[in-house]
Amino acid sequence: MVDRRPLIAGNWKMNFDHLRAIAFVQKFAWTLKDAKFPTTEVEVALFPPFTDIRSVQTTIESDGLGFAFGAQDLSPFESGAHTGDISGEMLAKLGCRYVIIGHSERRQDHHEDDAIVSAKTVAAIASGLIPVICVGETSDDLEKFGASAVPVGQLREVLTALKPDAEIVVAYEPVWAIGSGQAATPKQAQDVCAALRAVIAEEMSPEAAEATRVLYGGSVKSSNIASFLREKDVDGALVGGASLDAEEFAKIVQFPRHVIA
Ligand code: PGA
Repeated sequence: MVDRRPLIAGNWKMNFDHLRAIAFVQKFAWTLKDAKFPTTEVEVALFPPFTDIRSVQTTIESDGLGFAFGAQDLSPFESGAHTGDISGEMLAKLGCRYVIIGHSERRQDHHEDDAIVSAKTVAAIASGLIPVICVGETSDDLEKFGASAVPVGQLREVLTALKPDAEIVVAYEPVWAIGSGQAATPKQAQDVCAALRAVIAEEMSPEAAEATRVLYGGSVKSSNIASFLREKDVDGALVGGASLDAEEFAKIVQFPRHVIA
């Protein structure tokens, strides 16, 4: 049985300049330290805007905080004439471990389709980054096709472009649950995460499916995190709004205390 260490990821979206980012990381780290929470139990990853990454990196490294971090997007290209883009190699050089790809806000705001998400995933892996591949259905999709058809289709399209041993993280984020305060139920999250794991088994291998962490995202807070992480196929959470409050995010990270309680 593979031990999938839970991953709690904070997606800051377009919030915090680099000074506020430093203050946040310090406050978040003190809060966890005061609570005497062993940071080895859960992997914590922060996803600041590009302009904050260097500051987050130096704060984490100089204080030996042990948090992972990553970017919210990357270019599908390696280098060259792509004004405004940031390459995977640049992110890897900054110490990024992860990169979020295909978040629904990018699919909406920048018309990113499955082909672009695939190309970005391939670029991330080529640079040594672990892609956090986001998939999820809109409320219209939910009505028309049910919960899992659209996210399963989105993931399958990306996985066909990957080698079977590629290391990935998958995040199931129903679009209707993002920022709405209306999270999916733990059972809905479990059903779709299990369907996504089955696709990984089909398109990559059963071993990859066992080893890959599948996260739930969409209105996760300290009051509901434990209910999601109790589900057998939910291996962590991608947290937006609640990751901007250091105390609240620290409570979310300490979910094992609530699961056991
Ligand atoms: P939310 O966002 O937690 O604010 O709903 C989640 C996300 O977009 O990753």
